[in-house]
Amino acid sequence: MTQCKYESQRVAYPYFLIAILLFAGQILFGLIIGAQYVWPDFLFPAIPFNIARMIHINLLVVWIIFGFMGSAYYLLPEEVEGEIYSTKLALIDCYLFLVGGIIAIAGYLFRWHDGREFLEQPTIIKIAIVIVVLLFIFNMIMTMVKGRKRTSISIVLLGGFLGLAVFYLFAFYKPANLTEDKFYWWWVVHLWVEGVWELIMASLLSFLIIKLTGIDREVAEKWLYIIIGLTLFTGIVGTGHHYYWIGTPAFWKTWGAWFSASEPLPFLAMVAFAFKMVRKRTREHPNRAAVLWTVGSAVMAFLGAGVWGFMHTLPKINYYTHGTQITASHGHLAFFGAYAMIVLAMISYAVPNIRKSGGFANQKAEILAFWTMVISMIFIAITLTGAGIAQAYLQRVVGLSYMETQGQIAIFYIVRLFFGLTFAAGLIIYIYDFFSSSKTA
Ligand code: HEM
Ligand code: HEM
Ligand SMILES: [Fe+2]
Repeated sequence: MTQCKYESQRVAYPYFLIAILLFAGQILFGLIIGAQYVWPDFLFPAIPFNIARMIHINLLVVWIIFGFMGSAYYLLPEEVEGEIYSTKLALIDCYLFLVGGIIAIAGYLFRWHDGREFLEQPTIIKIAIVIVVLLFIFNMIMTMVKGRKRTSISIVLLGGFLGLAVFYLFAFYKPANLTEDKFYWWWVVHLWVEGVWELIMASLLSFLIIKLTGIDREVAEKWLYIIIGLTLFTGIVGTGHHYYWIGTPAFWKTWGAWFSASEPLPFLAMVAFAFKMVRKRTREHPNRAAVLWTVGSAVMAFLGAGVWGFMHTLPKINYYTHGTQITASHGHLAFFGAYAMIVLAMISYAVPNIRKSGGFANQKAEILAFWTMVISMIFIAITLTGAGIAQAYLQRVVGLSYMETQGQIAIFYIVRLFFGLTFAAGLIIYIYDFFSSSKTA
């Protein structure tokens, strides 16, 4: 397989390595909370549900951001035609982020946290995260300034990271009024996953498609513009789908419904782009696993975000499904399909080029891991959808209490745990394959 064109691309490796280890940690805690849904006293009082849940979703966000940063360091030199401005800064930043992340997670175990979902990091850790991201963006901008070219892919990627940093600042703003608190909380959570992260995903997808299919950059750029145009047009006002029931003005029901109902469009465009380009490919890339992750990510993101998102985004439906297991089923399928899978696609493509030994040990094992994880996640989502429909009906139509309802739908949680275990088996195959050829990295 081809080797890195630029030596500094190798700095992506520690980012990818850490991402995979944290992913494993995320799944371990996913299994713990999945088990606690079945046996509520499991590991109590050492690791209560709320703490393990916090760790599950914080590890998720942190490993995805590690993956995004590693992807950017791998992609930038090839895009701008020049080395990374400072690989030393990139490494220092990587370790700073890792230390901050570990302190935050360890802190959660000792009940050191700040309450609001996804943003539980204590203020000092939040400040460290901002510093990490700013140093990263500085390195990125300097690399682009010094490089020979500035491609659309690199500019969209930079835009995505700038947005990630800017919207995270709203995590520091904690109004006393609960409606206002929730209003701005979504400026981080929604505007990340349905706004600026989507820009990052679109640029990584375009890069991978160009490399894997050999299609012209001009064609990929045209699609990239369409995708980011649709993302920004639908996603920003689409935030309104979180403003139906929190005490915000009534007009959000109309605006939120129309714009969020259009949010599947950029995801549909990504699927169309991926399939069309693979069909028109001018080369048969030997890294079949990377092609699979790339196309798979577009498809699963469309299902998880587009289809499962649309399912509960209209006020008339959300009135019944709000905060039920429907939300969890969508959250899992969308996060995994869009962001976990696009990072795994970049890792799959980049790591063989970074390693002198060339490759994951075995494409077959990686492809087996792909299907095991993807199919398990689809079943987790279907199971939770079943749980969610039953929950919405029993609790909000029949009128049973929350706990009576949970008693009625217990079977779904057993099935979810089963598919959680098969998902973990897929991840173990993946990790085994990743490390069995890492000695020469
Ligand atoms: C990759 C993109 C996406 C990701 C990662 C994602 C993830 C999530 C997560 C984790 C939540 C739960 C938040 C919480 O309350 O803790 C959520 C809620 C929601 N998402 Fe998405 N989402 C994505 C795209 C979409 C799209 C495109 C739509 C609409 C078409 C959508 C519609 C919704 C709605 C309506 C809710 C609120 C559910 C409720 O009322 O309980 N999402 N999303
Ligand atoms: C072994 C597999 C997994 C299991 C058993 C599992 C289990 C769980 C459980 C029990 C919750 C808490 C739900 C609640 O509060 O009621 C949760 C939340 C969450 N998990 Fe997982 N999970 C797994 C894998 C994943 C993966 C691979 C991702 C994404 C890449 C993910 C993303 C999330 C998100 C975004 C939430 C918050 C959802 C929300 O607020 O609606 N999980 N998970
Ligand atoms: Fe949203």
